[in-house]
Amino acid sequence: MHLLTVFSHPFSDHYPAAVMDAFHAPFVAQAASIDVLDLHAENFDPRFTEADHDHFWGGPIPGGIVEMHRRVEAADRLAFVFPVYWWGMPAMMKGWIERVFTAGWAYQYGAGVHDRGKVADASSLLPRIPTILIGVGGSKQATYDRYGYADAMRTQLDVGTLAYCGLTDVESHLIFDVEGDHNADKRLAGLEQARAAAEKFLLPDRIPRDAKRDHFEE
Ligand SMILES: Cc1cc2nc3c(=O)[nH]c(=O)nc-3n(C[C@H](O)[C@H](O)[C@H](O)COP(=O)(O)O)c2cc1C
Repeated sequence: MHLLTVFSHPFSDHYPAAVMDAFHAPFVAQAASIDVLDLHAENFDPRFTEADHDHFWGGPIPGGIVEMHRRVEAADRLAFVFPVYWWGMPAMMKGWIERVFTAGWAYQYGAGVHDRGKVADASSLLPRIPTILIGVGGSKQATYDRYGYADAMRTQLDVGTLAYCGLTDVESHLIFDVEGDHNADKRLAGLEQARAAAEKFLLPDRIPRDAKRDHFEE
């Protein structure tokens, strides 16, 4: 079992990192290998550059991206752990997806770049690696419910991005209301939530999800 965790937070000793550690505990207990891709610590540049744009239109693959592809390809479980910024992933993590989930590797239109704009749907190219998202939010669940932010995140991230590329077996979790001393108990409960999510995620009889289908049924 090899897990790749993509993590984005400027500090490795703040609450989101503790959530990641709690999530990892069941993997460690199973002696799984874990590749932590800490985007800040690795100085990942999330800016979509001229070279990325050139590759989008059929040019050569930019430096450093193939190495990221290899790290994803090596994984048989994939996780994203992040603080919620503006009802989504931090720009750092969004930029990682923009640059790493490249055309011709993650998805493809028709036979290649020349069919872009001609066919209605892209084909997904990634294998169905079980994938989990754990977002840590400062706001209360009631706020997410009131405005539909959690649904919006699932539609955009689980369905529109990950399942779009073939990672259809994706589940996402939010830990709410984690800011301030008065919420210490919620932070503690959030760690348990992350650990329990990992335990379930690792169950041998876990039924794979189909995020695209579930999007219409749930
Ligand atoms: C730029 C920024 C945007 C944020 N946007 C949201 C948001 O949209 N929803 C939310 O629930 N929390 C939001 N938060 C709160 C963070 O998710 C929360 O503070 C973080 O998960 C807690 O970890 P930390 O204090 O160690 O960074 C935001 C925080 C920052 C810095």
